[in-house]
Amino acid sequence: MTINNTVLTAKMGNFFIIFVLFALISHLLCADSHHHSNCSDTTTDPDEERNAVEIITSRGFKAETHYVVTKDGYILGIHRIINTQYSHSNQTLKPLLLQHGLLGSSTDWLINSPFLNGSYDQLNTINENVGNNLGFVLAQHGYDVWLSNSRGNTYSTNHTIYKTSEKKYWRFTFDEMSEYDLPAIIKYITKATNQSSIGYIAHSQGTAIMFALLASRPEFSQIINPFIALAPVAYVSDIITPIRYIAEFNDVLRFIGGKFLPSDKLMTYLAEELCDTKMRIICSNILFLLSGFDEQQLNMTRLGVYFTHTPAGTSSWNVAHFGQLVESKKFRKFDYGEYENKIIYGQKTPPNYNLSSITSTKIALIYSLNDWLADLANVVQLKQELKVPLLAEYLVPYERWSHTDYIFGKDAGLYVYSKVLEILSKT
Ligand SMILES: *[C@@H]1O[C@H](CO)[C@@H](O)[C@H](O)[C@H]1NC(C)=O
Ligand SMILES: *[C@@H]1O[C@H](CO)[C@@H](O)[C@H](O)[C@H]1NC(C)=O
Ligand SMILES: *[C@@H]1O[C@H](CO)[C@@H](O)[C@H](O)[C@H]1NC(C)=O
Ligand SMILES: *[C@@H]1O[C@H](CO)[C@@H](O)[C@H](O)[C@H]1NC(C)=O
Ligand SMILES: *[C@@H]1O[C@H](CO)[C@@H](O)[C@H](O)[C@H]1NC(C)=O
Ligand SMILES: *[C@@H]1O[C@H](CO)[C@@H](O)[C@H](O)[C@H]1NC(C)=O
Ligand SMILES: *[C@@H]1O[C@H](CO)[C@@H](O)[C@H](O)[C@H]1NC(C)=O
Repeated sequence: MTINNTVLTAKMGNFFIIFVLFALISHLLCADSHHHSNCSDTTTDPDEERNAVEIITSRGFKAETHYVVTKDGYILGIHRIINTQYSHSNQTLKPLLLQHGLLGSSTDWLINSPFLNGSYDQLNTINENVGNNLGFVLAQHGYDVWLSNSRGNTYSTNHTIYKTSEKKYWRFTFDEMSEYDLPAIIKYITKATNQSSIGYIAHSQGTAIMFALLASRPEFSQIINPFIALAPVAYVSDIITPIRYIAEFNDVLRFIGGKFLPSDKLMTYLAEELCDTKMRIICSNILFLLSGFDEQQLNMTRLGVYFTHTPAGTSSWNVAHFGQLVESKKFRKFDYGEYENKIIYGQKTPPNYNLSSITSTKIALIYSLNDWLADLANVVQLKQELKVPLLAEYLVPYERWSHTDYIFGKDAGLYVYSKVLEILSKT
């Protein structure tokens, strides 16, 4: 695990600076090559050019895009994978909602390498073309798979009133994803499928917004069955990611507001510029700067694809919110500052999410030992606060399993998705 500490400890409130810095470094190191193109990976994977719908159709499935409007006017573009194998049967498929994490999107569940570890294949006889991607694995197994996109990411940038060029659009954190996005999407899916319950599988921030929802509105415990939390996040006081350093800049980030940079354009540029052999380790640092990575599980050949799809965008406030949670050691709502807190919450400090008030008995936790964002100590803390019995609990039996391996790990199918299938088969 290598992460450039000198860069991390450089206290910049805006990560844009780092990204520009890396871009400059790449230019210097590439200066001795005559041709620009020799300093970058010349082979382009077709998945780099594809959007979520195109990736789904390229794998032999049908794709649907649905627009869900939230109470506060955000228009979310959510995707659905249709396995035509099941279209003609009269069987009702169980709907599952897959929710990405911080800076992710629906493609998180689609863009991992199609390569499938042999032993896993034998175990589950999964179509070789779909491989290590939970979205496809579940569709292949006869689930009705819906892929969420939280406000502010690539696929959810529309609003009934605001434009993304307006700062007002970006006045949100994961509080609103939990309070508005999730209920709207869940309601939409239950209505579209005529089902009273749906399964929810989430990564990272996606788990935090469900914990927050279940804590605030117990009625969702009846609807969500099961809730499978990959790399569960609620408390983040012990995390070791650079988000720690953001804690010192919460106020700056909150003041800046707007969209959290780096921009998608810059990331695309970096993917092209930085990914030659010498630079690959730096590439990976940038890509996984916030969540960490595990070299053995990271398929370097596929970095270009990961780069063009992530980061998929969020607000500066959302990142500041995580910084605040590191500082406060609490799982609570966004801190607007005393004055605004009094207006919004009626108290000087933001209210906590009370995990002990969760009544769902359908929660499964999947966690690991080398996770920068879902640190074991914080997962234990989360478990202690939950007063309900867990449906299942699973420690990934691979010591170096990292936060991003759930999505991009070479052996994600083997270590995680097979377990997800097993949990689902019992509900
Ligand atoms: C770029 O790389 C190719 C093959 O890798 C090589 O044939 C070519 O000479 C290189 N061009 C320059 C200007 O270094
Ligand atoms: C599905 O149901 C319809 C009407 O009930 C019936 O005509 C059709 O044969 C069924 N299809 C299958 C594959 O069972
Ligand atoms: C790595 O990615 C490449 C390109 O997508 C793919 O061909 C290869 O099978 C992957 N290898 C593993 C071990 O996932
Ligand atoms: C497949 O999984 C096994 C664990 O059962 C692992 O030892 C092996 O390295 C994996 N193969 C590849 C090519 O990733
Ligand atoms: C926003 O809405 C327009 C028209 O309603 C649609 O064409 C466009 O794809 C939407 N953008 C996103 C990111 O969903
Ligand atoms: C929806 O489900 C209910 C009961 O599960 C059933 O009575 C009703 O006919 C269904 N409606 C549609 C439109 O399928
Ligand atoms: C949290 O919820 C539990 C269970 O409903 C309750 O007993 C406890 O008092 C709550 N804690 C706070 C601080 O509100």
